[in-house]
Amino acid sequence: MVGTGVFAEIFDGDLDVFKYYSEGEWKKSSSGKSVAIINPTTRKTQYKVQACTQEEVNKVMETAKSAQKLWAKTPLWKRAELLHKAASILKEHKAPIAECLVKEIAKPSKDAVTEVVRSGDLVSYCAEEGVRILGEGKFLVSDSFPGNQRTKYCLSSKIPLGVILAIPPFNYPVNLAVSKIAPALIAGNSLVLKPPTQGSVAALHMVHCFHLAGFPKGLISCVTGKGSEIGDFLTMHPGVGCISFTGGDTGIAISKKAGMIPLQMELGGKDACIVLEDADLDLVAANIIKGGFSYSGQRCTAVKVVLVMESVADTLVEKVKAKVAKLTVGPPEDDCDITPVVSESSANFIEGLVIDAKKKGATFCQQYRRDGNLIWPLLLDNVRPDMRIAWEEPFGPVLPVIRINSVEEGIHHCNASNFGLQGCVFTKDINKAMLISDAMETGTVQINSAPARGPDHFPFQGLRDSGIGSQGITNSITMMTKIKTTVINLPTPSYTMG
Ligand code: G3P
Repeated sequence: MVGTGVFAEIFDGDLDVFKYYSEGEWKKSSSGKSVAIINPTTRKTQYKVQACTQEEVNKVMETAKSAQKLWAKTPLWKRAELLHKAASILKEHKAPIAECLVKEIAKPSKDAVTEVVRSGDLVSYCAEEGVRILGEGKFLVSDSFPGNQRTKYCLSSKIPLGVILAIPPFNYPVNLAVSKIAPALIAGNSLVLKPPTQGSVAALHMVHCFHLAGFPKGLISCVTGKGSEIGDFLTMHPGVGCISFTGGDTGIAISKKAGMIPLQMELGGKDACIVLEDADLDLVAANIIKGGFSYSGQRCTAVKVVLVMESVADTLVEKVKAKVAKLTVGPPEDDCDITPVVSESSANFIEGLVIDAKKKGATFCQQYRRDGNLIWPLLLDNVRPDMRIAWEEPFGPVLPVIRINSVEEGIHHCNASNFGLQGCVFTKDINKAMLISDAMETGTVQINSAPARGPDHFPFQGLRDSGIGSQGITNSITMMTKIKTTVINLPTPSYTMG
């Protein structure tokens, strides 16, 4: 299914490598080199993609620039129509794209299908929202400002930024790519996509759905290859008008190197779950499992530290333990709850955090177990602030529990983190929940539910090292535009009318 049927043209069967997308065509790189994509489960090469050159990046930027000029003049309703078409093609081909997600990033098979369907919905919603918000402007008259007469009419509207560079992460290579592509296109921009290596092939299939929808040549491009060879070249390219990045620390480095262009960054989180004495502990336990262990904890919005009041901690830990025991562990093809983490280096990093916690006396609620990249779910109780796992983001199925003696202690821990993406609080007292939400320095606080980005039209933003700007469909469209004003100047009246 992958690279066959309607997707046959994206694959070079002779060289067994996927092509890159430039000038509306699927091409082989002149480098003659490829980059291997390692299946996290088998740890063997699953696919290969082109290692694009800097010259190829230059070509993509050049065509993106000229395609954008025409696209900006294309009526808004027509841009929306093409996006709706791409959304339906994407959903129609959910099976092969989901298959890539299973093989490239070990996403459980049902979640992989959900990611593609959610992406189609996102594109459609974006088309509709774009028509609403880009079809509106603002009108000001001058006599509302002191000293002015009613002689100036100011009309403002939103215009595109130019070429948007989109760099999504491995954990949502389709959804977090379209969350950048769709707002960019509806707003009249062109788009250059650099997919994550693990996830490239799913992203190339997704891009082909946009190709099949009939977008103009050069408007969308997708370059693959090693970040070390084309990463800086892309992010520092003078043709780029805006960067939308989701990922890890690399985003901080990009922010320092990028020129004077708008940046949208989402760089991870250490999302705290504060549990009060009056919380519904069954609800909390269910949300800790869903929030902490879905996709094996490889979500920026995963619950990454539980801060529970000591008086209810024993009961909560027992409830979570019972649910952890029921999680299925194994290959993504079997739709297991816990699947191999994305790479050996990720698994080694997670193991380093576990070893550190063990040395410093954390209580292991399960035995630590690892086979290759597969790490069994692990709850670590009695974690203290001197342990690395209290602060660092494992991006794996390992969850620390810190027992607290006051709500203030929990809020303090949450706010002392260098991250500030999301957090959650569990209590039956809405007044307390609102006060705690106000005190938690995170982009979003969920009351009585685990952190999550969706629905995809909700604002999504992080404080401190968690990011720059706000995402979510409406915010992304706005972010990928600038304001243009035209002022109509009337002659100053020589007499007063009436
Ligand atoms: O970058 C955001 C992603 O890691 C989490 O998204 O939808 O799982 O909350 P979601």
